[in-house]
Amino acid sequence: MKPGLFITFEGPDGSGKTTQIQMLADFLASKGIEIVLTREPGGTRIGEMIRDIILDPCHKEMAHLTEAFLYASSRAQHVAQKIRPALEAGNTVICDRFMDSSIAYQGYGRKLGERVRIINEIAVDGLVPDLTFLILVDPDEGKKRISNGVLDRLELEEIDYHTDVYEGYLELASRYPERILVIDGLRGIEEISEEIIEKTVKFLRTHRGIEI
Ligand code: ADP
Ligand code: TYD
Repeated sequence: MKPGLFITFEGPDGSGKTTQIQMLADFLASKGIEIVLTREPGGTRIGEMIRDIILDPCHKEMAHLTEAFLYASSRAQHVAQKIRPALEAGNTVICDRFMDSSIAYQGYGRKLGERVRIINEIAVDGLVPDLTFLILVDPDEGKKRISNGVLDRLELEEIDYHTDVYEGYLELASRYPERILVIDGLRGIEEISEEIIEKTVKFLRTHRGIEI
């Protein structure tokens, strides 16, 4: 089956995206749907090199605008080299983070606002996900999950930033309710997975006429 579906996962750090992506991918693969799993920043050789530059803790002097352009550059390469060709070949692409991450983290978190949308619209060249699962956990819970309950000084300082990111995601969800499905990430892994699978199956039925 070749639905050519583009699914993205969004949410704060530690919201459970990686866990849920793997479960959805396993389910779809078991139904014979060919999956391309990928992530941002990264997903291509050039993108992974850009990822290393962005996430390197040594680059403390990086301007917020530089950061936004680097994420968008990684994305432009990803769309051109990997995502669009895979979709055109009929594959289902599941991507860990996409343009909404930039809107939430750079637009709201770094307060760069509309500029982030403009540079990203250029980068994605018209490509919009068919379906986005936004897994929401509050910033404190996300931090706890990734740091095992022990917050260092910097992580504590950054809580404000993560609260802005969270608000940004809520704003995006209310702006694009057709595409962005909000998932309560504070439940058990299995329960969340069941909801995501059920919504994906429903989307395939109603938008692609595919029954799985
Ligand atoms: P992300 O990719 O969004 O950063 P992960 O899937 O890597 O999130 O999950 C972060 C941590 O939280 C991992 O240790 C994972 O096992 C755990 N986790 C994932 N989902 C849940 C959940 N629903 N409840 C509790 N812990 C979870
Ligand atoms: P990663 O280790 O992939 O985090 P996670 O497992 O939470 O997805 O690191 C990616 C980081 O980059 C994460 O903190 C979110 C951030 N990010 C942005 O700020 N803007 C973006 O456009 C993207 C794609 C990610």
